[in-house]
Amino acid sequence: MAEALKVIDKIGQKFSFTFDIKHADVGGIAIDNHGKALPDSTIESCRASQAILFGSVGGPKWEKLPPHEQPERAALLPLRKLFGLYANLRPAICYEGLTHASPLKQSIIEGGFNVLCIRELTGGIYFGQPKKSEPLEDGKGVRSIDTMVYTTPEIERITHVAFKAAQKRARKLHSIDKANVLENSVQWRKTVTQIAKEYPEVELIHMYVDNAAMQLVRNPKQFDVLLCENMFGDILSDEMAMITGSLGMLPSASLAEGTFGMYEPSGGTAPDIAGKGIANPIAQILSAAMMLRYSFAHEAAAQAIENAVEKVISEGYRTGDIYSEGTKRVNTREIGDLICAAI
Ligand code: IPM
Ligand code: MG
Repeated sequence: MAEALKVIDKIGQKFSFTFDIKHADVGGIAIDNHGKALPDSTIESCRASQAILFGSVGGPKWEKLPPHEQPERAALLPLRKLFGLYANLRPAICYEGLTHASPLKQSIIEGGFNVLCIRELTGGIYFGQPKKSEPLEDGKGVRSIDTMVYTTPEIERITHVAFKAAQKRARKLHSIDKANVLENSVQWRKTVTQIAKEYPEVELIHMYVDNAAMQLVRNPKQFDVLLCENMFGDILSDEMAMITGSLGMLPSASLAEGTFGMYEPSGGTAPDIAGKGIANPIAQILSAAMMLRYSFAHEAAAQAIENAVEKVISEGYRTGDIYSEGTKRVNTREIGDLICAAI
């Protein structure tokens, strides 16, 4: 986050604007300082803002708390719900110079690829009720229930986001479902097909989620935009992140209606390297770029950051996660400085 803030400051100088930045605790540090993962003061601070630039929550220290008190369930999910952040954009870019970092064969990913996952974020099985565990009547165990719920308006609004994104890209949209099994998916497919009529220039392909998981490793270049319900998007976006080579490179945006949004790296906290100064800050920096694009409508500033990142990568600078022989290894602060200089 320190590097992302440095980059934002640099962008402000370049484009002559200033940010009014407030810091607020969330997740583990909020549990330590305020006794809960999402303090009211943090919610108020977010409400008074135009956007949230989010760090990471969670870590081994808080894993022993009861499930509903853990940072993920007590901070991240409520924030999404509270602010109506229904549209989650997760670009997975495999840069040409970084294909070696991908676990896929070079022949599959040669030249890199660029896929955008659009994930519905406030519905589906994550939030549907009932959601509970109850003892079995015969006392021989427990029955656990999660409920997958979608209404057509919820499907419609995320589908519009996906088609609009595809219009600006390669105009190809894969809608992911499990319509051979799930009632939700039958409705999903029907609704997406209906909306598609408004976007005749975009090619729509329906694909079952299990097949999509397979196709992503077989030939990721066939995809442009993926439209997913909440849980399918959670799973596939991690797979997409993996095949790009580093989770440390991938930003995300979670958007509400209007311009409010929350921006965060796609990866988690990486507790194994916390405090060592070696983490890759690029995901956080590119999240700030997405913030400039979607909440502040400043495309030029967003692109300045993205171009600077590409330049630094193409010049061979690498943090440990993407390092390979013949490139220049730098730490968190150094790559932040290099990106600022490139801006
Ligand atoms: C994500 C994460 C979260 C999710 C967890 C931490 C609750 O995996 O943002 O993808 O499942 O949505
Ligand atoms: Mg996830």
